[in-house]
Parts: sequence; structure tokens; C-alpha cells
Amino acid sequence: MKKQIVLLPGDGIGREIMESAKAVLEAIAKKYNHEFTFEKHAIGGDAIDQHGIPLPEETVQACQNADAILLGAVGGPKWDTVSPNIRPEKGLLGIRKALGLFANLRPILGFKALLHASPLKQEIIEGSDILIIRELTGGLYFGEPRERRDNGNSAVDTLLYTREEIERIVEKGFESARIRNKHLTSVDKANVLESSRLWREIVEEKAKEYPDVQVEHLLVDAAAMKLITSPSQFDVIVTENLFGDILSDEASVLTGSLGMLPSASVRTDGVGLYEPVHGSAPDIAGKGIANPLGIILSAALMLRHSFGLDEEAKEIESAVNACLEEGYHTADLAIKNGHQVGTIEMTNAVLEYL
Ligand code: NAI
Ligand code: MG
Repeated sequence: MKKQIVLLPGDGIGREIMESAKAVLEAIAKKYNHEFTFEKHAIGGDAIDQHGIPLPEETVQACQNADAILLGAVGGPKWDTVSPNIRPEKGLLGIRKALGLFANLRPILGFKALLHASPLKQEIIEGSDILIIRELTGGLYFGEPRERRDNGNSAVDTLLYTREEIERIVEKGFESARIRNKHLTSVDKANVLESSRLWREIVEEKAKEYPDVQVEHLLVDAAAMKLITSPSQFDVIVTENLFGDILSDEASVLTGSLGMLPSASVRTDGVGLYEPVHGSAPDIAGKGIANPLGIILSAALMLRHSFGLDEEAKEIESAVNACLEEGYHTADLAIKNGHQVGTIEMTNAVLEYL
């Protein structure tokens, strides 16, 4: 398979961990006889330094022409003083919007070797394997009007969804459940919100097209509780923008470290953007100790969701699992009796298993 991949390393540890992901993708290409070509472009603070803006037109163009995009991280105190309109983070929001990436997929994988790195009890998180699908370009974060009124003494935000916006994200939920464990939990607040009642109606309609998927509706408050009291009951969760933002951060405590979590931002067809959930970690940038597993697992997601290469994705995930089982870990993971290593050694350990 021939694929053109755009790499956006960004700032801070983004540049260090990008090299890890690239090496892993090259190893997979060699092993499975694929031809991946890579093109690097600037985004965030890196782009401010080179071009004076966080999202140059040539970066957008390259992303539009790519088969998939892998991003490191953006941001850092260095650019705090430039100007409020020239922020590294604007590069990230801008590229998601420019590409129409409406679905954010966050798999929450509980690696067995990391069970005791979570603050939750081992018997609670054991066996949990959740995919959270958050709507990313609509809902409360984008609805109009959004403004101050009454001389600034009242404020309004709008939770607006169209049928089309709900249908496409709900479909993503059903499609994902179908290729996983065939269980979809739709999270809403239908006892109070009209937009949630429309959401629930559409889920019911769509359910008829997916008789093989078992559907459950949960109110968001109950979902928040169940996520940490019985996470193993979930398979795929689909929800609107704000609920998904909160629930996915809550669920990240199941995994032990922010440095482990991958994510994908996709649309129905066309290019997808893959990135670790963490930021540019300015406190450890340049020290060679960043955990590369979040971006390596993001590369696996890219193979699965953009290229349909499930076997290759599983190969990467198994290699990561094997390294963790072997005791390899970076400093961010609170593991007692392992081999603590840096970014390059951790990457080499993964490459060895591949
Ligand atoms: P952060 O995720 O960069 O760091 C939070 C803490 O986790 C830090 O102590 C950091 O050292 C640690 N950490 C994060 N990733 C790690 C990894 N791979 N290995 C080891 N330790 C890791 O979040 P923070 O400090 O709130 O933000 C720093 C900058 O990153 C800010 O400018 C922020 O806006 C930006 N940011 C960018 C994101 C992105 O590019 N997607 C997401 C979140 C924040
Ligand atoms: Mg958030």
C-alpha cells in the first residue's frame, strides 16, 4: 500500500516523540511491504518562529493533499508574549476546522502492566477497553448566539445541533461498535435538554440499520459515575462535544499516564489527524525523557482508521504491550520494579518487538 503522510511535529516534546512514531511507521512499512512517504510541515510555535503565524497556508495545503496527518503537540511559554491572536494552539484548532474533522476518537486502553499506575482499584479497571467518540465541531462550543448581554452581566452559549451533524457522529458510533464489541452507549441529557431529545431520536432511528449492535442510552451524570465505578461495562461511547470533553479526561485516569493516550480526529471520508492527547510538556522538553507511546499508539490508530490496516495496528499495540510487560517505562509512569528508560530507549524497545 502506498501512502503519503504529513508529519506536524510542532513544539516541545512534539519534535522528540515524532521521531519515535516515524521510526515505528518505517518498521511497519518494511515488515508489511508498504510504501509510506513522509513530508514534514510547521505548525504552532514552530510555525510562528518560521513564518510568523501558527498555521501557514502551505501546511493546510499539504494536509489537504495527504492520506493522513500525524501531529506531535503545540504550545509553550515561549510564545505567551507574542500576541493573543498569534497563539500556537490556534494552529491546532485551525487545522481541525479547515479539514472538517467532526469526530474525535479516544480509545482508553487499560494495559495490564499499568493497572497499578492508576489511582483506581485494580479490580475496577481490569478488563476495561473503551472507545469514546466525541463530536468535535458542533454543540455548545460553536452554537450561536454566544455573547455577553446586559452590559456584560449576563452571558449566553447555545447548544445547537442539526440532524445532519448528529447523524454523522452517531453513524461513526455504530460503525465503530460494529467492528469492536457491538455495544454502543449514547450519552445525553434527554431528561432536560431538547437537543438531547433529538440526539436520542436519531440514535433510535439509526439503531434499525445496525441490528447487530446493542444500544443503550445513559444520562451524562450517570455515565460519569459509571465510568469510574464500572468502566468494563462500556465498549463504544458516543456523545456531544462538551460531554465528550469532560468524560474523556475523566476516563484518562484509567490508564495510568497522560503520556499513554492516543487520539484520532476524523470525518466520514478523507484525511484524518492523529495525535497524542498530551501537550508539548515544556517542563521536560529537550531532556530526552518524554513518553513516546502516546504518539506511537496514535500512529497505530492512523493505520487502522485511515488505511484500514488493522493487523499492522494490532502489531504496534502488541509491541507496546510487550514492552510494558517487560517492565520498560518512562519517568511519567509510576511503576516500581521496572527498567526506567528515556524516549529513544523506549522507542528502540518497541522497534525490537516489531
Ligand atoms: P502537557 O500535557 O504538556 O503536560 C502536563 C504534564 O504531563 C507535564 O508535567 C508533562 O511533563 C507531563 N507529560 C505530558 N506528556 C508527557 C509525555 N509524553 N511523557 C512524559 N510526561 C508527559 O500539558 P500542559 O503542561 O498543561 O501544557 C503545556 C503546553 O501544551 C501548553 O502550551 C498547552 O496549551 C499545550 N497543550 C497542547 C496540546 C496539543 O497540542 N494537543 C494539548 C494540551 C496542551
Ligand atoms: Mg479537554
